[in-house]
Amino acid sequence: MRFLRSIPCRGVRLYTSLPAGHGKHVTVLGEQYPTDSMTNISPTIISKLPLRLHTQPSHPLSTLRALIESHFPSYAHLSSLSPLVTPHQNFDLLSFPQDHPGRSVTDSYYINKDLMLRTHTSAHEVEVFGRGETKWLLTADVYRRDEIDGSHYPVFHQTEGARILSADQTGMQEVEEDNARLTAHLERSNIIIEDVPHLSPTNPCQPAHDPKHTELIAKNLKLSLNSLMLQLFGGHVGSTAEDPLRVRWIEATFPWTTPSFEVEVFFRGKWLEILGCGVVRQATLDNSNVSNKLGWAFGLGLERIAMILYSIPDIRLFWSQDERFLSQFKQGEISTFKPYSRYPACFKDVSFWLPETSGLHENDFCDLVRDVAGDIAEDVKMIDSFTHPKTNRKSVCYRINYRSMDRSLSNDETNTLHAQVLSQLQDQFGVEIR
Ligand code: PHE
Repeated sequence: MRFLRSIPCRGVRLYTSLPAGHGKHVTVLGEQYPTDSMTNISPTIISKLPLRLHTQPSHPLSTLRALIESHFPSYAHLSSLSPLVTPHQNFDLLSFPQDHPGRSVTDSYYINKDLMLRTHTSAHEVEVFGRGETKWLLTADVYRRDEIDGSHYPVFHQTEGARILSADQTGMQEVEEDNARLTAHLERSNIIIEDVPHLSPTNPCQPAHDPKHTELIAKNLKLSLNSLMLQLFGGHVGSTAEDPLRVRWIEATFPWTTPSFEVEVFFRGKWLEILGCGVVRQATLDNSNVSNKLGWAFGLGLERIAMILYSIPDIRLFWSQDERFLSQFKQGEISTFKPYSRYPACFKDVSFWLPETSGLHENDFCDLVRDVAGDIAEDVKMIDSFTHPKTNRKSVCYRINYRSMDRSLSNDETNTLHAQVLSQLQDQFGVEIR
Protein backbone atom coordinates (compact mmCIF):
# COMPACT_ATOMS: atom_id res chain seq x y z
CA MET A 1 0.00 0.00 0.00
CA ARG A 2 1.36 3.39 -0.87
CA PHE A 3 0.58 6.86 -1.95
CA LEU A 4 0.61 7.56 -5.59
CA ARG A 5 3.23 10.20 -6.16
CA SER A 6 3.45 11.96 -9.48
CA ILE A 7 6.81 10.31 -9.99
CA PRO A 8 8.13 7.19 -8.21
CA CYS A 9 10.49 8.05 -5.39
CA ARG A 10 14.06 6.84 -5.13
CA GLY A 11 14.63 7.88 -1.53
CA VAL A 12 17.47 6.55 0.54
CA ARG A 13 16.21 6.24 4.05
CA LEU A 14 18.65 7.12 6.78
CA TYR A 15 17.45 7.90 10.26
CA THR A 16 14.96 10.39 11.57
CA SER A 17 15.51 13.66 13.23
CA LEU A 18 13.64 16.94 13.47
CA PRO A 19 15.21 20.22 12.49
CA ALA A 20 16.01 22.24 15.56
CA GLY A 21 15.33 25.93 15.97
CA HIS A 22 11.53 26.19 16.12
CA GLY A 23 10.19 28.70 18.62
CA LYS A 24 7.09 28.14 20.76
CA HIS A 25 4.87 29.31 17.92
CA VAL A 26 4.94 29.22 14.16
CA THR A 27 3.04 31.60 11.89
CA VAL A 28 1.33 29.96 8.94
CA LEU A 29 -0.94 31.87 6.54
CA GLY A 30 -1.13 34.74 9.01
CA GLU A 31 -2.19 32.61 12.00
CA GLN A 32 -0.05 31.60 14.98
CA TYR A 33 0.08 27.95 16.01
CA PRO A 34 1.81 26.30 18.96
CA THR A 35 4.72 24.02 18.06
CA ASP A 36 5.58 20.65 19.59
CA SER A 37 7.93 17.73 19.02
CA MET A 38 6.26 16.93 15.67
CA THR A 39 6.73 20.43 14.20
CA ASN A 40 8.81 20.18 11.04
CA ILE A 41 7.30 22.73 8.64
CA SER A 42 10.15 24.76 7.16
CA PRO A 43 10.35 28.47 6.19
CA THR A 44 10.59 27.55 2.49
CA ILE A 45 7.35 25.61 2.69
CA ILE A 46 5.59 28.32 4.69
CA SER A 47 6.48 30.79 1.93
CA LYS A 48 4.79 28.62 -0.72
CA LEU A 49 1.43 28.32 1.02
CA PRO A 50 -0.13 31.61 -0.18
CA LEU A 51 0.94 31.19 -3.83
CA ARG A 52 -1.77 28.79 -5.06
CA LEU A 53 -0.37 28.46 -8.57
CA HIS A 54 -3.44 26.57 -9.78
CA THR A 55 -5.47 29.78 -9.46
CA GLN A 56 -2.97 32.20 -11.03
CA PRO A 57 -4.31 33.31 -14.41
CA SER A 58 -2.23 32.12 -17.40
CA HIS A 59 -0.12 29.80 -15.27
CA PRO A 60 0.18 26.36 -16.95
CA LEU A 61 -1.20 24.67 -13.81
CA SER A 62 -4.22 26.97 -13.89
CA THR A 63 -4.89 26.24 -17.57
CA LEU A 64 -4.59 22.53 -16.92
CA ARG A 65 -7.02 22.79 -13.98
CA ALA A 66 -9.51 24.65 -16.20
CA LEU A 67 -9.09 22.08 -18.98
CA ILE A 68 -9.90 19.22 -16.60
CA GLU A 69 -12.85 21.19 -15.23
CA SER A 70 -14.17 21.80 -18.74
CA HIS A 71 -14.26 18.04 -19.23
CA PHE A 72 -16.63 17.69 -16.26
CA PRO A 73 -18.94 20.68 -16.82
CA SER A 74 -21.76 19.46 -14.58
CA TYR A 75 -19.44 18.93 -11.59
CA ALA A 76 -18.87 21.41 -8.74
CA HIS A 77 -15.40 22.97 -9.20
CA LEU A 78 -13.68 23.64 -5.88
CA SER A 79 -10.26 25.19 -5.42
CA SER A 80 -10.11 27.20 -2.21
CA LEU A 81 -9.90 24.75 0.69
CA SER A 82 -7.18 25.44 3.27
CA PRO A 83 -4.06 23.26 3.00
CA LEU A 84 -4.07 22.89 6.80
CA VAL A 85 -5.83 19.68 7.80
CA THR A 86 -5.80 17.38 10.79
CA PRO A 87 -4.07 13.98 10.59
CA HIS A 88 -7.58 12.66 11.26
CA GLN A 89 -8.80 14.17 7.94
CA ASN A 90 -5.68 13.29 5.98
CA PHE A 91 -5.39 9.69 7.23
CA ASP A 92 -7.88 8.33 9.80
CA LEU A 93 -11.13 9.18 8.00
CA LEU A 94 -9.68 7.44 4.94
CA SER A 95 -8.84 4.23 6.87
CA PHE A 96 -5.06 4.60 6.70
CA PRO A 97 -3.50 2.10 9.12
CA GLN A 98 -1.80 3.59 12.18
CA ASP A 99 1.63 2.47 10.98
CA HIS A 100 1.34 3.84 7.41
CA PRO A 101 4.70 5.45 6.49
CA GLY A 102 2.92 8.55 5.11
CA ARG A 103 2.11 9.56 8.69
CA SER A 104 5.75 9.90 9.72
CA VAL A 105 7.50 13.25 10.24
CA THR A 106 10.04 12.23 7.63
CA ASP A 107 7.35 12.03 4.93
CA SER A 108 4.83 14.75 5.85
CA TYR A 109 4.91 18.34 7.12
CA TYR A 110 3.45 18.91 10.57
CA ILE A 111 2.62 22.26 12.18
CA ASN A 112 2.13 20.31 15.38
CA LYS A 113 0.78 16.90 16.28
CA ASP A 114 -2.81 18.00 15.58
CA LEU A 115 -2.32 19.93 12.35
CA MET A 116 -0.48 19.13 9.13
CA LEU A 117 -0.26 20.12 5.48
CA ARG A 118 -2.48 17.89 3.34
CA THR A 119 -0.43 15.27 1.53
CA HIS A 120 -3.20 14.66 -1.01
CA THR A 121 -6.51 16.18 -2.08
CA SER A 122 -8.29 13.03 -0.85
CA ALA A 123 -7.95 14.62 2.61
CA HIS A 124 -11.11 16.59 1.72
CA GLU A 125 -13.25 13.72 0.42
CA VAL A 126 -15.21 13.15 3.62
CA GLU A 127 -15.81 16.87 4.11
CA VAL A 128 -16.97 17.48 0.53
CA PHE A 129 -19.21 14.38 0.38
CA GLY A 130 -20.55 15.42 3.80
CA ARG A 131 -21.57 18.82 2.39
CA GLY A 132 -23.85 17.00 -0.01
CA GLU A 133 -21.73 17.33 -3.15
CA THR A 134 -22.27 14.31 -5.41
CA LYS A 135 -20.19 15.28 -8.48
CA TRP A 136 -17.16 17.42 -7.79
CA LEU A 137 -13.59 18.32 -8.67
CA LEU A 138 -11.15 19.83 -6.22
CA THR A 139 -7.78 21.24 -7.26
CA ALA A 140 -5.24 22.14 -4.61
CA ASP A 141 -1.62 22.37 -3.55
CA VAL A 142 -0.37 19.30 -1.63
CA TYR A 143 2.82 18.80 0.39
CA ARG A 144 5.19 15.86 0.80
CA ARG A 145 8.75 15.85 2.07
CA ASP A 146 10.99 14.67 -0.70
CA GLU A 147 14.33 14.58 -2.41
CA ILE A 148 15.61 17.31 -4.74
CA ASP A 149 15.82 16.83 -8.50
CA GLY A 150 14.23 18.03 -11.74
CA SER A 151 10.98 16.16 -11.19
CA HIS A 152 10.48 16.29 -7.39
CA TYR A 153 9.32 19.28 -5.41
CA PRO A 154 7.88 19.26 -1.88
CA VAL A 155 4.79 21.14 -3.07
CA PHE A 156 2.78 19.98 -6.04
CA HIS A 157 -0.81 20.12 -7.22
CA GLN A 158 -3.52 17.53 -7.51
CA THR A 159 -7.04 17.41 -8.87
CA GLU A 160 -9.40 15.13 -7.02
CA GLY A 161 -12.60 14.11 -8.76
CA ALA A 162 -15.52 12.15 -7.41
CA ARG A 163 -19.01 11.03 -8.29
CA ILE A 164 -21.47 9.32 -5.98
CA LEU A 165 -24.99 8.10 -6.78
CA SER A 166 -27.82 6.54 -4.86
CA ALA A 167 -27.17 2.82 -4.51
CA ASP A 168 -30.51 1.82 -6.05
CA GLN A 169 -32.27 1.32 -9.38
CA THR A 170 -32.42 5.05 -10.19
CA GLY A 171 -28.73 5.58 -9.51
CA MET A 172 -27.70 2.50 -11.49
CA GLN A 173 -29.87 3.46 -14.45
CA GLU A 174 -28.16 6.84 -14.56
CA VAL A 175 -24.76 5.10 -14.63
CA GLU A 176 -25.85 2.72 -17.37
CA GLU A 177 -27.00 5.58 -19.60
CA ASP A 178 -23.79 7.47 -18.99
CA ASN A 179 -21.74 4.34 -19.72
CA ALA A 180 -23.52 3.87 -23.06
CA ARG A 181 -22.83 7.50 -24.05
CA LEU A 182 -19.15 7.33 -23.06
CA THR A 183 -18.64 3.95 -24.77
CA ALA A 184 -19.99 5.35 -28.03
CA HIS A 185 -17.71 8.38 -27.76
CA LEU A 186 -14.61 6.27 -27.08
CA GLU A 187 -15.41 3.84 -29.91
CA ARG A 188 -15.18 6.74 -32.35
CA SER A 189 -11.83 7.87 -30.94
CA ASN A 190 -8.26 6.98 -31.64
CA ILE A 191 -7.40 5.34 -28.34
CA ILE A 192 -6.11 1.89 -27.36
CA ILE A 193 -6.98 0.82 -23.83
CA GLU A 194 -5.28 -2.03 -21.99
CA ASP A 195 -7.76 -2.93 -19.31
CA VAL A 196 -7.89 -5.15 -16.22
CA PRO A 197 -11.09 -6.74 -14.86
CA HIS A 198 -13.29 -4.38 -12.84
CA LEU A 199 -13.17 -6.90 -9.99
CA SER A 200 -10.72 -9.69 -9.18
CA PRO A 201 -9.72 -11.72 -6.11
CA THR A 202 -6.86 -9.27 -5.53
CA ASN A 203 -9.03 -6.22 -6.24
CA PRO A 204 -12.31 -7.19 -4.62
CA CYS A 205 -15.77 -5.74 -4.26
CA GLN A 206 -16.63 -4.48 -0.78
CA PRO A 207 -18.79 -6.73 1.41
CA ALA A 208 -21.44 -4.00 1.73
CA HIS A 209 -21.79 -3.59 -2.05
CA ASP A 210 -23.64 -5.52 -4.74
CA PRO A 211 -20.94 -6.72 -7.22
CA LYS A 212 -23.22 -5.78 -10.14
CA HIS A 213 -23.42 -2.20 -8.88
CA THR A 214 -19.66 -2.08 -8.29
CA GLU A 215 -19.02 -3.32 -11.84
CA LEU A 216 -21.16 -0.53 -13.25
CA ILE A 217 -19.46 2.10 -11.09
CA ALA A 218 -15.95 0.83 -11.93
CA LYS A 219 -16.88 0.85 -15.62
CA ASN A 220 -18.14 4.42 -15.29
CA LEU A 221 -14.90 5.42 -13.57
CA LYS A 222 -12.81 3.87 -16.34
CA LEU A 223 -14.87 5.37 -19.17
CA SER A 224 -14.87 8.82 -17.55
CA LEU A 225 -11.10 8.78 -17.11
CA ASN A 226 -10.33 7.27 -20.52
CA SER A 227 -12.27 10.11 -22.05
CA LEU A 228 -10.42 12.65 -19.85
CA MET A 229 -7.08 11.18 -21.02
CA LEU A 230 -8.26 11.57 -24.60
CA GLN A 231 -9.12 15.21 -23.96
CA LEU A 232 -5.76 15.91 -22.28
CA PHE A 233 -3.39 13.91 -24.48
CA GLY A 234 -5.38 13.17 -27.64
CA GLY A 235 -4.13 16.23 -29.52
CA HIS A 236 -0.51 15.58 -28.59
CA VAL A 237 0.02 11.87 -28.90
CA GLY A 238 -2.46 9.68 -30.64
CA SER A 239 -3.78 12.19 -33.12
CA THR A 240 -3.00 9.95 -36.09
CA ALA A 241 -4.17 6.46 -36.93
CA GLU A 242 -0.58 5.15 -36.81
CA ASP A 243 -0.03 6.71 -33.41
CA PRO A 244 -3.12 6.24 -31.25
CA LEU A 245 -3.21 7.29 -27.60
CA ARG A 246 -2.37 4.29 -25.39
CA VAL A 247 -3.83 4.08 -21.90
CA ARG A 248 -3.15 1.23 -19.50
CA TRP A 249 -5.12 0.27 -16.37
CA ILE A 250 -3.37 -1.47 -13.49
CA GLU A 251 -4.68 -2.88 -10.22
CA ALA A 252 -3.70 -0.78 -7.22
CA THR A 253 -4.42 -0.44 -3.50
CA PHE A 254 -5.55 2.62 -1.58
CA PRO A 255 -6.87 2.45 1.97
CA TRP A 256 -10.15 4.21 1.12
CA THR A 257 -11.06 2.56 -2.20
CA THR A 258 -11.62 -0.95 -3.52
CA PRO A 259 -11.43 -2.01 -6.26
CA SER A 260 -8.56 0.43 -6.92
CA PHE A 261 -6.60 1.25 -10.07
CA GLU A 262 -3.76 3.28 -11.49
CA VAL A 263 -3.74 4.73 -14.97
CA GLU A 264 -0.66 5.05 -17.14
CA VAL A 265 -0.30 6.79 -20.49
CA PHE A 266 2.32 5.86 -23.11
CA PHE A 267 4.39 8.91 -23.96
CA ARG A 268 7.71 9.16 -25.84
CA GLY A 269 8.43 5.46 -25.48
CA LYS A 270 7.59 5.22 -21.77
CA TRP A 271 4.56 4.38 -19.62
CA LEU A 272 3.88 7.31 -17.29
CA GLU A 273 1.88 6.98 -14.10
CA ILE A 274 -0.86 9.60 -14.28
CA LEU A 275 -3.43 8.96 -11.57
CA GLY A 276 -4.85 6.75 -8.83
CA CYS A 277 -8.54 5.97 -8.38
CA GLY A 278 -11.12 3.49 -7.18
CA VAL A 279 -14.58 2.73 -5.87
CA VAL A 280 -14.97 4.62 -2.60
CA ARG A 281 -15.09 2.43 0.50
CA GLN A 282 -18.26 2.24 2.51
CA ALA A 283 -16.34 3.41 5.62
CA THR A 284 -15.48 6.68 3.85
CA LEU A 285 -19.09 7.17 2.77
CA ASP A 286 -20.30 6.36 6.30
CA ASN A 287 -17.83 8.92 7.70
CA SER A 288 -19.37 11.45 5.29
CA ASN A 289 -22.97 10.59 6.32
CA VAL A 290 -23.86 9.40 2.82
CA SER A 291 -24.18 5.68 3.60
CA ASN A 292 -26.89 5.15 0.98
CA LYS A 293 -24.61 6.21 -1.88
CA LEU A 294 -22.03 4.47 -4.03
CA GLY A 295 -19.36 5.96 -6.26
CA TRP A 296 -15.82 6.54 -7.42
CA ALA A 297 -12.95 8.95 -6.78
CA PHE A 298 -9.69 9.73 -8.54
CA GLY A 299 -6.67 11.92 -7.85
CA LEU A 300 -4.20 13.11 -10.46
CA GLY A 301 -0.96 15.05 -10.21
CA LEU A 302 -0.93 18.20 -12.34
CA GLU A 303 2.81 18.88 -12.62
CA ARG A 304 3.57 15.57 -14.28
CA ILE A 305 0.90 16.18 -16.93
CA ALA A 306 1.79 19.86 -17.42
CA MET A 307 5.49 19.00 -17.86
CA ILE A 308 4.51 16.70 -20.73
CA LEU A 309 1.92 18.94 -22.38
CA TYR A 310 4.02 22.13 -22.21
CA SER A 311 7.46 20.45 -22.54
CA ILE A 312 8.57 22.02 -19.25
CA PRO A 313 11.88 20.32 -18.39
CA ASP A 314 12.27 21.14 -14.68
CA ILE A 315 9.59 21.16 -11.99
CA ARG A 316 11.10 24.29 -10.35
CA LEU A 317 10.05 26.33 -13.38
CA PHE A 318 6.41 26.26 -12.22
CA TRP A 319 7.53 28.47 -9.30
CA SER A 320 9.57 30.88 -11.42
CA GLN A 321 8.71 34.57 -11.22
CA ASP A 322 10.87 35.23 -14.30
CA GLU A 323 8.98 37.08 -17.03
CA ARG A 324 10.76 34.95 -19.61
CA PHE A 325 8.81 32.02 -18.16
CA LEU A 326 5.52 33.64 -17.16
CA SER A 327 5.02 35.72 -20.30
CA GLN A 328 5.09 32.62 -22.49
CA PHE A 329 1.68 31.41 -21.36
CA LYS A 330 -1.91 32.45 -21.94
CA GLN A 331 -4.88 31.21 -19.91
CA GLY A 332 -6.67 28.42 -21.74
CA GLU A 333 -3.87 27.75 -24.23
CA ILE A 334 -1.42 24.86 -24.15
CA SER A 335 1.79 25.97 -25.82
CA THR A 336 5.30 24.50 -26.05
CA PHE A 337 7.70 26.08 -23.57
CA LYS A 338 10.66 27.75 -25.28
CA PRO A 339 13.64 27.28 -22.97
CA TYR A 340 15.77 30.34 -22.42
CA SER A 341 19.50 29.98 -21.89
CA ARG A 342 20.58 27.43 -19.32
CA TYR A 343 23.12 28.75 -16.84
CA PRO A 344 26.17 26.77 -15.70
CA ALA A 345 25.81 24.11 -13.03
CA CYS A 346 28.02 24.20 -9.98
CA PHE A 347 28.53 20.89 -8.16
CA LYS A 348 29.65 20.86 -4.55
CA ASP A 349 30.09 17.86 -2.29
CA VAL A 350 29.58 17.57 1.43
CA SER A 351 30.76 14.56 3.44
CA PHE A 352 29.92 14.09 7.05
CA TRP A 353 29.64 11.59 9.88
CA LEU A 354 26.04 11.06 10.93
CA PRO A 355 25.28 11.93 14.52
CA GLU A 356 25.44 8.69 16.47
CA THR A 357 22.28 9.06 18.50
CA SER A 358 19.71 11.00 16.49
CA GLY A 359 20.72 10.25 12.87
CA LEU A 360 19.56 12.30 9.91
CA HIS A 361 16.90 11.51 7.30
CA GLU A 362 17.59 12.36 3.67
CA ASN A 363 14.41 14.49 3.62
CA ASP A 364 15.74 16.52 6.57
CA PHE A 365 18.89 17.17 4.60
CA CYS A 366 16.89 18.20 1.50
CA ASP A 367 14.67 20.60 3.50
CA LEU A 368 17.79 22.18 4.97
CA VAL A 369 19.28 22.67 1.49
CA ARG A 370 16.00 24.18 0.24
CA ASP A 371 15.88 26.55 3.20
CA VAL A 372 19.40 27.78 2.44
CA ALA A 373 19.45 27.75 -1.37
CA GLY A 374 15.77 27.80 -2.38
CA ASP A 375 15.18 26.93 -6.01
CA ILE A 376 18.90 27.36 -6.76
CA ALA A 377 19.28 23.80 -5.51
CA GLU A 378 18.66 21.84 -8.69
CA ASP A 379 19.61 18.38 -7.59
CA VAL A 380 20.85 16.60 -4.46
CA LYS A 381 22.28 13.08 -4.73
CA MET A 382 23.90 10.80 -2.24
CA ILE A 383 27.07 9.70 -4.00
CA ASP A 384 28.71 7.67 -1.25
CA SER A 385 28.02 6.10 2.11
CA PHE A 386 30.03 3.75 4.27
CA THR A 387 30.27 2.49 7.81
CA HIS A 388 33.64 2.64 9.53
CA PRO A 389 34.62 -0.98 10.26
CA LYS A 390 36.13 -0.21 13.66
CA THR A 391 34.00 2.57 15.11
CA ASN A 392 30.79 1.56 13.31
CA ARG A 393 30.12 5.21 12.55
CA LYS A 394 28.33 5.98 9.31
CA SER A 395 29.55 8.56 6.84
CA VAL A 396 27.66 9.93 3.85
CA CYS A 397 28.57 12.17 0.95
CA TYR A 398 25.98 14.26 -0.92
CA ARG A 399 26.56 16.13 -4.16
CA ILE A 400 24.56 19.34 -4.50
CA ASN A 401 24.07 20.92 -7.90
CA TYR A 402 23.57 24.69 -7.55
CA ARG A 403 22.11 26.28 -10.66
CA SER A 404 19.77 29.20 -11.03
CA MET A 405 17.18 28.99 -13.78
CA ASP A 406 17.17 32.76 -14.19
CA ARG A 407 20.78 33.96 -14.02
CA SER A 408 24.45 33.03 -13.75
CA LEU A 409 25.66 32.45 -10.18
CA SER A 410 29.02 33.87 -9.10
CA ASN A 411 31.59 31.61 -7.42
CA ASP A 412 31.29 33.70 -4.28
CA GLU A 413 27.56 33.20 -4.17
CA THR A 414 27.69 29.40 -4.45
CA ASN A 415 30.57 29.22 -1.97
CA THR A 416 28.54 31.26 0.52
CA LEU A 417 25.45 29.07 0.03
CA HIS A 418 27.47 25.90 0.44
CA ALA A 419 29.20 27.24 3.57
CA GLN A 420 25.73 27.97 5.00
CA VAL A 421 24.61 24.41 4.25
CA LEU A 422 27.64 23.11 6.16
CA SER A 423 27.15 25.36 9.15
CA GLN A 424 23.38 24.68 9.33
CA LEU A 425 24.10 20.96 9.21
CA GLN A 426 26.39 21.30 12.20
CA ASP A 427 24.05 23.64 14.10
CA GLN A 428 20.76 21.85 13.46
CA PHE A 429 21.83 18.24 13.45
CA GLY A 430 25.22 18.19 15.20
CA VAL A 431 26.89 16.31 12.33
CA GLU A 432 30.65 16.19 12.00
CA ILE A 433 31.83 17.47 8.63
CA ARG A 434 34.71 15.47 7.18
N1 PHE B 1 -4.87 10.46 -3.15
C1 PHE B 1 -4.22 9.46 -3.96
C2 PHE B 1 -2.76 9.88 -4.13
O1 PHE B 1 -2.32 10.84 -3.61
C3 PHE B 1 -4.91 9.28 -5.32
C4 PHE B 1 -6.32 8.73 -5.21
C5 PHE B 1 -7.41 9.60 -5.14
C6 PHE B 1 -6.54 7.36 -5.16
C7 PHE B 1 -8.70 9.10 -5.01
C8 PHE B 1 -7.83 6.85 -5.06
C9 PHE B 1 -8.90 7.72 -4.99
O2 PHE B 1 -2.01 9.26 -4.78
